[in-house]
Amino acid sequence: MEVGFLGLGIMGKAMSMNLLKNGFKVTVWNRTLSKCNELVAHGASIGKTPAEVINKCKVTIAMLSDPAAALSVVLDKDGVLEQICGGKGYIDMSTVDPETSCKINEAITSKGGQFLEAPVSGSKQPAETGQLVILAAGDKALYEAAIPAFDILGKKSFFLGQVGNGAKMKLVVNMIMGSMMNAFSEGLTLADRSGLNPRDLLDVLDLGAIANPMFKGKGPAMLQNNYSPAFPLKHQQKDMRLALALGDENSVPMPVAAASNEAFKKARSMGLGDMDFSAVFETLKVLKHSS
Ligand SMILES: NC(=O)c1ccc[n+]([C@@H]2O[C@H](COP(=O)([O-])OP(=O)(O)OC[C@H]3O[C@@H](n4cnc5c(N)ncnc54)[C@H](OP(=O)(O)O)[C@@H]3O)[C@@H](O)[C@H]2O)c1
Repeated sequence: MEVGFLGLGIMGKAMSMNLLKNGFKVTVWNRTLSKCNELVAHGASIGKTPAEVINKCKVTIAMLSDPAAALSVVLDKDGVLEQICGGKGYIDMSTVDPETSCKINEAITSKGGQFLEAPVSGSKQPAETGQLVILAAGDKALYEAAIPAFDILGKKSFFLGQVGNGAKMKLVVNMIMGSMMNAFSEGLTLADRSGLNPRDLLDVLDLGAIANPMFKGKGPAMLQNNYSPAFPLKHQQKDMRLALALGDENSVPMPVAAASNEAFKKARSMGLGDMDFSAVFETLKVLKHSS
């Protein structure tokens, strides 16, 4: 099967590499074109613009940073819309808000193309090992056609109905994750400041009912101030912001998520946006001991 792939950041690079390694022919494009080189070394072809990739491939996947990037790649000059037409499918796996996804859907379908949103749960390592959870919604026929690719990229894919539902599900998941990361950071800090060894806290947590892969995976690195980015903090803050907007629309009070968003904003203001989202832990270290 041949696919196009737009966006070779942390996730897009791992996902497109995975498709290549599993026998797909892949044509890649990235805004910073030099990032295509590693994929080309593994057999990918390059498209010089998104439009060129769409022209070449029947199905194209995108994995872009945020709503502005997702819209720009579709609507701007040399974008997806210039070449999309009947018989071609576009699958956006970026995390965006439902409104952005609906706008892209309208643009693609108005030209006769098929559209599927398919954001993912899982980070860099699951992307590398094909263990993502895929949250698809939109064109059912395109979903069925994409299953061979989804089977390589993920351990499970869901079809959630109309466009917007995939985006909503993804925002709910990341809203919970962002709040958990803040509670975890506060717990590690409280353990340390009150005279406990935070490593003991990690062991205790891991044996109880709130054990989870995130605490287990990120905790030891956080205690070593290692925030090598798997999920960049600026994207987690974007997801909290978009989830809070979804809460506004639905009159759902979310005081915990709102406070977490403020902590991620604080971390961004400290220059930590490109670090892993666990770097929100650093916002607590600037606090002084009370006398
Ligand atoms: N990392 C994770 O753990 C994870 C997990 C699940 C979902 N996600 C979501 O997946 C998406 C990608 O995440 P990532 O971690 O791979 O991010 P990333 O490493 O920051 O990569 C972002 C990608 O978007 C491109 N881009 C940004 N602005 C653009 C624009 N205006 N026009 C065209 N391309 C643009 C970047 O191109 P350049 O290389 O030129 O900058 C890059 O290819 C995000 O929506 C994120 O929320 C991430």
